[in-house]
Amino acid sequence: MLASLSFRGARAARSLPRATTLLRFQSTAQTPNIDVAKLKVETTAAPKPKPEAKSLKFGHSFTDHMLTIPWNEKTGWGAPEIKPYQNLSLDPSSTVFHYAFTLFEGTKAYRAPDGTVRLFRPDKNMERMKRSAARIALPDFDGEALTELIKKLVQIDADWIPEEKGYSMYLRPTLMGTQAALGVGPSSDALLFVIASPVGPYYPQGFKPVQLYATTEFVRAAPGGTGGYKLGSNYAPGVVPQVAAAKHGYSQNLWLLGPEHALTEVGTMNLFVALRKPDGTVELITPPLDDVILPGVTRDSILQLARDHASGKNKVAGLPDKFEVSERKLVMKDLVDAEKNGSLVEVFGAGTAAVISAVDKIGYQGRDIEIPCGPPGQGMGEIAKGFLDRMAAIQNGEIEHPWSIVAGEAKPYA
Ligand SMILES: Cc1ncc(COP(=O)(O)O)c(C=O)c1O
Repeated sequence: MLASLSFRGARAARSLPRATTLLRFQSTAQTPNIDVAKLKVETTAAPKPKPEAKSLKFGHSFTDHMLTIPWNEKTGWGAPEIKPYQNLSLDPSSTVFHYAFTLFEGTKAYRAPDGTVRLFRPDKNMERMKRSAARIALPDFDGEALTELIKKLVQIDADWIPEEKGYSMYLRPTLMGTQAALGVGPSSDALLFVIASPVGPYYPQGFKPVQLYATTEFVRAAPGGTGGYKLGSNYAPGVVPQVAAAKHGYSQNLWLLGPEHALTEVGTMNLFVALRKPDGTVELITPPLDDVILPGVTRDSILQLARDHASGKNKVAGLPDKFEVSERKLVMKDLVDAEKNGSLVEVFGAGTAAVISAVDKIGYQGRDIEIPCGPPGQGMGEIAKGFLDRMAAIQNGEIEHPWSIVAGEAKPYA
């Protein structure tokens, strides 16, 4: 354990000099890690009535239980608890309230046709959560142990996953600094918790493309900053630009960077652009992560599916045969030129909540770039649809895949 932590520390040291000092300080201490065997479970005596599935609004209803694990710099990770969903009690001086010591993850549990409940690539969420923790000097932890505990929470609250197609349970692991003292420095105390929320399909009335406002007045992330980490502090500053985009009639921001207006992300999704090359090959492009783009689990999965299609290893239905995949920089001029010369095939965003959101318009410098979006009524082009169908089949356990991990048995939503 210590060997792997110091390896992680050494690797992080090359890109994160300051945070690494904190990582070593926090993670090489001889304090207990998360221990699944110490789990205490108190189930609720008063289960909540379940909302009608159709009335669910994303992130507004929560299940009966939550997982909490406290941490202290001297005593390490304390006993995990699954207990009735309840308010937290924190000292008003807690570091989370003043200096935004908080990070989170977002993933889902799905009902599979074989009667199990599945998680999708939980190892990727754990890897990203540990990176986020290192970036703000919050403690490192055993990601496999946390995954086991999340599975136990999912088992206990499995009756909260609606049974209709397209429904799932959104999981929100969160880690925050709870040191009860003002002062900017590593937090001596932390709290990790996981809450769960039953959710419906992102587009209940059928898929609809989104319109983006290419934002030149604000940036989401800058080189050397924190855009590549899932920190709470990355999100509040995106709200004013989002409201401004809505005022212009657009549903999301297209986040740009630098004087060339390099494309980075779409709202809170990763960006994919498909362009047709002169020989007819379709090139699927997503910008490189560098340290400005969040390493999305959906992005990584689409890249792997796309590369397997391109190499012929595993074809994705609906994708052209002549297909290649690039992680490369794209600037707004590339999109404007592609629209003009007819080589713009599709643009879509990718993330856990919607999986895929097609884009049919990008407002840029006073005019709209129009983007093809597939046949009428489909709400997305063939490439986006190919990936959506394959991803949904894997996530819902309709096709067996090593990314789909059994968490427990399904229960009726009652
Ligand atoms: C800024 C940002 N980019 C991309 C994503 C997509 O990541 P994932 O596919 O892991 O949900 C998210 C959502 O988590 C996000 O907040």
